[in-house]
Amino acid sequence: MYDMKSLYEAETVQDAIRLLQEHPEAQIIAGGSDVLVQMREGKRAGAELVSIYGLDDLRGVTLEEDGTLWIGSLTSFSHITQDPLIQKYIPVLGEAVDMVGGPQIRNIGTIGGNTCNGVTSADSASTLFAWDAVIELTGPVGVRQIPIRDFYIKAGKVDLQPGEIQTGILIRKESYEGYAGHYIKYAMRNAMDIATLGCSVNVKLTEDKKRFEDIRIAYGVAGPVPMRAVHAEEAGRGLEVTDENIEKIGDTVLKDVTPRDSWRASKAFREHISKVLCKRALREAVKRAAGYEGYAGVTGADGADEAGDAAGGRNEAASEAVRPGTQVHSIMTDPTSQRQYKLIRCRINGVERETMVDARASLTDMLRNDYSLTSVKKGCEVGECGACNVIIDGECYNSCIYLAAWADGKDILTLEGLMGPNGELSDIQQAFIDEAAVQCGFCTPGVIMSAVEILESGKEYTRDELRKLLSGHLCRCTGYENILNAVEKTMKKRLGKE
Ligand SMILES: Cc1cc2nc3c(=O)[nH]c(=O)nc-3n(C[C@H](O)[C@H](O)[C@H](O)COP(=O)(O)OP(=O)(O)OC[C@H]3O[C@@H](n4cnc5c(N)ncnc54)[C@H](O)[C@@H]3O)c2cc1C
Ligand code: FES
Ligand code: FES
Repeated sequence: MYDMKSLYEAETVQDAIRLLQEHPEAQIIAGGSDVLVQMREGKRAGAELVSIYGLDDLRGVTLEEDGTLWIGSLTSFSHITQDPLIQKYIPVLGEAVDMVGGPQIRNIGTIGGNTCNGVTSADSASTLFAWDAVIELTGPVGVRQIPIRDFYIKAGKVDLQPGEIQTGILIRKESYEGYAGHYIKYAMRNAMDIATLGCSVNVKLTEDKKRFEDIRIAYGVAGPVPMRAVHAEEAGRGLEVTDENIEKIGDTVLKDVTPRDSWRASKAFREHISKVLCKRALREAVKRAAGYEGYAGVTGADGADEAGDAAGGRNEAASEAVRPGTQVHSIMTDPTSQRQYKLIRCRINGVERETMVDARASLTDMLRNDYSLTSVKKGCEVGECGACNVIIDGECYNSCIYLAAWADGKDILTLEGLMGPNGELSDIQQAFIDEAAVQCGFCTPGVIMSAVEILESGKEYTRDELRKLLSGHLCRCTGYENILNAVEKTMKKRLGKE
């Protein structure tokens, strides 16, 4: 159970605004991957929450008539990466958010949450700075739009006025047209780690591809808030695309970055990798911008050994008029205990269920306590280990950081749901046995559910891709190779490529 005072669920943007006005102390929760973790850690203990998780109109990416891309604030990282408009116009953003945490975090974490937490290490932020993104905020006095550089006030603080929510992020046509970019996250692990430094470089070349018409270089963790390297950008504009000039531009970033010492890395190391990452990202961005074939350094000297291996129509909800008399939420308060409950209806392992859940309960609590689905393990309970992983509407989520109240209307699958009517094991379960992929077994149900999501996609993945898709799990018995073998063999078997 979360130590939460009250939960209010908004059904429209206007509901959310009204709820925030009625409960001025309340905090917004979107995907909850920051909020619930902080609540578990005691930092937000006892808080009132206004949930905007159900505002589906704020999910998705659309292209406006003037070419502006609108990204709904509740769009999850995995949906951004897969979105055809993002892939077509600003693939570097999809690339950047594909480096957040692990797959389950990318399914729950939203771009709105990533920018509203005000954190310099947010993986989406540097690229949004590079694209001169505009933040769309909707509040009691209407909609306002502000440049992202003005949205960030200081570390952990953004320009959100009382009663306001972020409804979208806009990227204007002139900001992305003709540009190509590359994002590099330097972290101590390839997954489930926040950036020691993040660098997004985006270039526009002249028509003959020989000069830099424009360069945009942005960083996370190079200062208290994400930032642009304006001196380096200025130094590069108009220069010929040569290896020497890339070195020069990369060295100039020291005029811009102001990193600090932290337990992750010293200031000196961050300054060093600021240059290295800029040069690497610049070379890759040049390749992507034009494939300037004559530039020998593009494919060769990438300085790779310098710092070691780095890890259709717009939704109208934002401007929607207040729906008078809207039933704001179905959470009920027990007058005696002041505890809050919600009647939810969902499908669990193919069976329709109806249950009264405590507003403070996580989905793990509900599945284990109300339905005895003990394959859903309680491990870290802060979204890091994957032991509680279940499939909701076809996607994997760590149920420890998913409110039970959000399960209303969802289709949930746990390991128990994989078995046949007489307890027959599914192919992937049997493969785990055959490949000795199970040791103590604590992590196994969660890993198998990720494997199910992978196998259900019907796609063929390389071993490296499988490694990434399974990276949201910690196995304390360290049986990773055997787990990979089991998933890979089952995938090939299903695809008839054994
Ligand atoms: C295990 C783990 C690994 C992680 N790894 C990474 C990583 O590698 N890179 C990274 O960048 N992040 C990482 N995160 C952090 C987190 O997943 C992201 O910051 C995510 O984008 C938060 O989105 P959310 O919807 O879950 O936000 P929430 O937790 O719901 O909210 C975050 C903050 O933003 C506010 N907020 C959210 N949405 C809005 C809105 N629309 N309007 C106004 N305010 C809003 C909330 O009040 C809160 O202050 C990780 C988290 C976990 C648990
Ligand atoms: S991720 Fe949920 S228990 Fe560890
Ligand atoms: S098998 Fe023991 S934790 Fe993974």
